[in-house]
Amino acid sequence: MTLDDMKRAAARAAIAFVPDNCVVGVGTGSTANHFIDALAEIKGRIEGAVASSEGSAARLKSHGIPVFDLNAVDRVPVYIDGADEINHYLHMIKGGGAALTREKIVAAVAEQFICVADHTKRVDILGTFPLPVEVIPMARSHVARELVKLGGRPVYREGVVTDNGNVILDVHGLRIAEPATLEGEINQIVGVVTSGLFARRRADVLLLGTESGVETFR
Ligand code: 5RP
Repeated sequence: MTLDDMKRAAARAAIAFVPDNCVVGVGTGSTANHFIDALAEIKGRIEGAVASSEGSAARLKSHGIPVFDLNAVDRVPVYIDGADEINHYLHMIKGGGAALTREKIVAAVAEQFICVADHTKRVDILGTFPLPVEVIPMARSHVARELVKLGGRPVYREGVVTDNGNVILDVHGLRIAEPATLEGEINQIVGVVTSGLFARRRADVLLLGTESGVETFR
């Protein structure tokens, strides 16, 4: 079984968490893409979706799934998305696909966050995967200097502009013992839009694709 098979299995298992007649929150990335493909098979029993990126919106529409503006939606009962790392408390690093800010917004609105991932994403301590931080372009150097003060080594993600018109700094060398504290500290830096730390709004459920099937953690 390949890692992609495990991602697909986890994503397909998330369909069981989708209530009838709801607007589903949909994340970004290869695992979220598997979820979108599975969602297409049951599109007749949902109202539609809100998407955390232009890429996911396009994939949803290509399947004939209506995509709503988040501002036009009263409730998002469930949000399904992948992660770059997830710990035992279901805190995550996200943003490998540069969609972290919209992911955090949809996750904040959603009543339940279901993380879908292959087993390589599970870690004891977050930080081996460089932490993405979305930054207003004119603040890039200032934010980078502040991130160094917090113990990180920020690297500008060359050639990437987010769906919101901003840039990404990937912060290497962090060993994140207290994710919620660091999330707050980074979000306080002027010029930061948001960080890819999802600790204050963690996942509620993790569906982890493994060689022996999909394991559920809460
Ligand atoms: C995008 C994300 C993704 O969820 C994360 O990068 C995982 O991606 P994949 O499912 O391709 O492994 O946060 O911004």
